[in-house]
Amino acid sequence: MSDSFDVVVIGGGPGGYNAAIRAGQLGLKSACIDKRGLFGGTCLNVGCIPSKALLYTSELYEEAREELPKLGIKTSAELDLPSMMAHKTKVVGELTKGVEFLLKKNKSEAIVGEARIASPGKVEVKLNDGSNRTLDTKLIVIATGSDVAPLPGVTIDEERIVSSTGALSLKSVPKRLLVVGAGYIGLELGSVWRRLGSEVTVVEFLDRITPGLDDEIAKQFQRLLTRQGMKFQLSTKVVGVEKKGDALGVTLEPAAGGAQSSLETDIVLVAIGRRPYTDGLGLAEIGVQLDSRRRVATDAHFRTNIEGIWAIGDCREGAMLAHKAEDEAVAAIENIAGRAGHVNYDAIPAVVYTHPEVASVGKTEDELKAAGIEYKIGKFPFTANARAKTIAATDGFAKVLADAKTDRVLGVHIMGAEAGNLIQEAAFAIEIGAASEDMARTSHAHPTLTEAVRQAAMGVEGWTMQM
Ligand code: FAD
Ligand code: NAI
Repeated sequence: MSDSFDVVVIGGGPGGYNAAIRAGQLGLKSACIDKRGLFGGTCLNVGCIPSKALLYTSELYEEAREELPKLGIKTSAELDLPSMMAHKTKVVGELTKGVEFLLKKNKSEAIVGEARIASPGKVEVKLNDGSNRTLDTKLIVIATGSDVAPLPGVTIDEERIVSSTGALSLKSVPKRLLVVGAGYIGLELGSVWRRLGSEVTVVEFLDRITPGLDDEIAKQFQRLLTRQGMKFQLSTKVVGVEKKGDALGVTLEPAAGGAQSSLETDIVLVAIGRRPYTDGLGLAEIGVQLDSRRRVATDAHFRTNIEGIWAIGDCREGAMLAHKAEDEAVAAIENIAGRAGHVNYDAIPAVVYTHPEVASVGKTEDELKAAGIEYKIGKFPFTANARAKTIAATDGFAKVLADAKTDRVLGVHIMGAEAGNLIQEAAFAIEIGAASEDMARTSHAHPTLTEAVRQAAMGVEGWTMQM
């Protein structure tokens, strides 16, 4: 193999592998290095994919026991956790192999090993077989992703005190699970284990769940999760976890300070956010600047302060989402190839894959108020959507926010069945600068859940019809 490249990408996650593939498509000779052994990064190996596999199967299990009998289908569902985990492992295996295939197809060399930037244009790789290799390259793209943010005073052992990685592979259903953090991971993986039989308590530092998402949705979302059996302790922090025989003793304190309390649990899941991962890359030695949150600092074109070194995905600023990393990968490589790569951060959707799903794109009401932008609101509940009724999934609503003067769609927030799919119409509307009237006048097939989004858009001008 030649050791001279146009682009060397460090990290084989959605940022890294998509950068390498796009480089290949544009005729650039590339290599993609990952130390994990399997390509696909956090997302495919221990993130998006295994969590969605477990969310799907655990939802089927709960539906079989709780919902199907109400619809005239008698069941006697029994949990076979090893088989459920085997499905997850199979999906991960197929998709990670698929990434290797795509790299090969696009003539990008997949290298398994730990990379370090020796200097701009030179990457040293400690290969997993113990040998070393030095790559010469015109450009380097850092796509090393993120890892779990630690909770002071709590040591993760991935057995009883786990991060998302351990929570995706528990060997049995814990009787009690304490989740620290009511964000994406806490609510998704908390839902998985609750559905499989755990008593789940979520401890959240703030006075609300899912910070950053629409406030009104967050309140209703918490009510629905509580109805499902999840318990919440808001405005509370975990200050210590102690092993007490087979149990764990957890010490809690009000977020604002005050008297401590304690409770016992079997497993603690730490899910208080993720932090950029750049350990061992040698960034300080070559002078690559980090920002105040230790993310790789770049300009709007994804260039760092050092000529020839670029960065994309979770290790730089912005939402830590797979599709954001993927969009930045394409834009960065297009910029490298002399094209006009660009990411519209207002049109990046975010989805919490619970039941119901919560999905949003664009600005929230709080953000519009803070920016002094006048907006109009259209809203529509799923209880009034015919398809939602037929599939017995009437929880939630859709909300469309449009500029009061121009009618341009500024934000769409949905909680309900299939919200993760429904949000895509809104992302496209924002991407093309559509008005809420465009969404309202576009024909939507009947009976579909998409009609709830259309009716919400009609509501912006006050002509919602199906209520
Ligand atoms: P990563 O996917 O983290 O990939 C970086 C890779 O770089 C890693 O494989 C790492 O091994 C490698 N690496 C690091 N340093 C080196 C080095 N020095 N040498 C060689 N290799 C190195 N996002 C969504 O959009 N949807 C979801 O449903 C979703 N679910 C998630 C569920 C969980 C439990 C978690 C933890 C995350 C989830 N995410 C989800 C977030 C998503 O996984 C990340 O946003 C995404 O993986 C970021 O991609 P990336 O390429 O920037 O980094
Ligand atoms: P998060 O940022 O989504 O949520 C963390 C939560 O922990 C917040 O509510 C925060 O207020 C709270 N918190 C912080 N410190 C705390 C403390 N000391 N005690 C109690 N609560 C505390 O982070 P999470 O859930 O760890 O996920 C990390 C990232 O991974 C997400 O932000 C998202 O970018 C990505 N992800 C995306 C998914 C998706 O797209 N469906 C699924 C899972 C993860």
